[in-house]
Formats: sequence, structure tokens, C-alpha cells
Amino acid sequence: MSGSLSWRLDAIEQAVAPVLPGFIAEVLPEIDSTNTELIRRARAGRDAPTLLVAERQTAGRGRMGRHWQGGPGEPGGALAFSLGLPLAPADWSGLSLAVGLSVAESLHPDIRLKWPNDLWWQGRKLAGILVETAGTAQADGRFVVIGVGINVEPLEGGDFSTRPAWLKALDPALDAPTALGRLVQPLVRAVRGFERHGFAPLAERFNARDAFAGLAVRLSDGTEGQALGVAANGALRVQTDTGLREIISSEVSVRPLPSA
Ligand code: BTN
Repeated sequence: MSGSLSWRLDAIEQAVAPVLPGFIAEVLPEIDSTNTELIRRARAGRDAPTLLVAERQTAGRGRMGRHWQGGPGEPGGALAFSLGLPLAPADWSGLSLAVGLSVAESLHPDIRLKWPNDLWWQGRKLAGILVETAGTAQADGRFVVIGVGINVEPLEGGDFSTRPAWLKALDPALDAPTALGRLVQPLVRAVRGFERHGFAPLAERFNARDAFAGLAVRLSDGTEGQALGVAANGALRVQTDTGLREIISSEVSVRPLPSA
């Protein structure tokens, strides 16, 4: 089965195979969720390194159990894909940050990163990342599923002030297949680099794109302070009245405080 858009998967496979032997790329016209599907496959023993793209998701999932639907519902309105591969880093901290950084760097210099793993443009969410693992840890690592959802076309209707950002507003040439072709090979390289060296070598580049650098923020656990970027392990650094806090949990979300 393949989709209705021109995804140029052959070129993606050829670019990625030298970095990730056995890599396959597939497009489905419709699936519940590309993350869910790759986890199902891995649990059934189908654990080849795979890129799975969906033109439409009927049950797309976001972080913290949220539903995710990027852009309007038609094919190409959003870019929704998951990359599944076995991975064995010494330390998993910061993987989703490394993913966000790679995607942002592949797409546009103006894209900012909102800790832990959203891409923002002009103060609005452009894309989200959901990293999950399938099954239990093996001696040689885990099968990790990295889901990326990017709004490509504007969502019609709703309140304009809260409307998410969309990729074609940054660059009208960035339709879903073009964006995918641009970002997959660097993403695979970034994930492989993370496996070998961890997040620390990427912290400076992440901080250069940090959407909240230096801003007053409030965390969902009630903490308020000044955001000071990320540490070498990917933790968010927040200067509070009672000292410097480093937030590791990805269950905590962060918002800028309205300026006085
Ligand atoms: C978030 O913003 O909370 C994360 C959104 C992640 C959405 C992507 S779309 C492809 C993959 N499949 C899913 O069900 N979710 C991720």
C-alpha cells in the first residue's frame, strides 16, 4: 500500500541504508497511529529499522495521553511519521531533545525548541515529538519508536490567536514529502550520534534555539523562575527564589509567564 502523495521513499531508503542497514520506509494512506503500529509490529517480532509515514491518522497520540491531530485532516495537511529502530545508548536522557533539534535544524533556521520536545515558531506550536519504547529492555538495548507530527497546512477555523503554526507559513516550498525528504537522513544520523555520545554535545545547539531562554516561566508543578536553558543531560534549568532547579521529568510542562 502506498499513499496518494509523491513521497519519494526510494531516495530516502537509499540515503538512510548506509547509516542504518536493513532500513525500510513505508507510507500508509490511513492508520490509527504510526507509533502504535510500530509498537504492535515490534511486539510481533517485526523490529527492522522502519520509517512509517501516515497520510491520515485516526487516533494520533501526543504526550501525556493527549490526542494529536496536526493540520486539517486531508493527506499532506500534516506530516506524521514514526521512526522505529533498536537503540542502546548508555543514557537515554535527552533523546527527544536530540530529535527535536535535528528536525528543527533540517527545516528552518527560525524554528525554536520548547523543552522538552516541541517545535515552535513565533510563539506557537509547529510540531511535537512522542518517543516510546516497545517491550522490555534487552541486553542490546530497546526498540525505540520516535514519532514526529508537524503541522504543514493551517488549521481552519478556531481562535486565530491560539492557532498552531504551520510549516508552509515558514516556507511555502515545504510540503509534507519535501519536508520528510529533507529531515529523515539527518534524523537517523542524529539518533545514531545520540546513541554513541549522548545529549551533552548537543546542549549548546539546543540552547541556541531555546524558545524560553532567559524568560520567566511557570512549570506545571507550580514552580516559577527564570528559564536558563538545558543542562548536559537535557534537564531544564530554572532559577527559582530557592535556588537552581533542574527538571528532568518529561511529565512536567513549561509555559512563559506573561510579562509584567
Ligand atoms: C505532542 O505534541 O504531544 C506529540 C505529538 C506527536 C505526534 C506524532 S504524529 C506521528 C506519531 N504517531 C502518533 O500517534 N503520534 C506521533
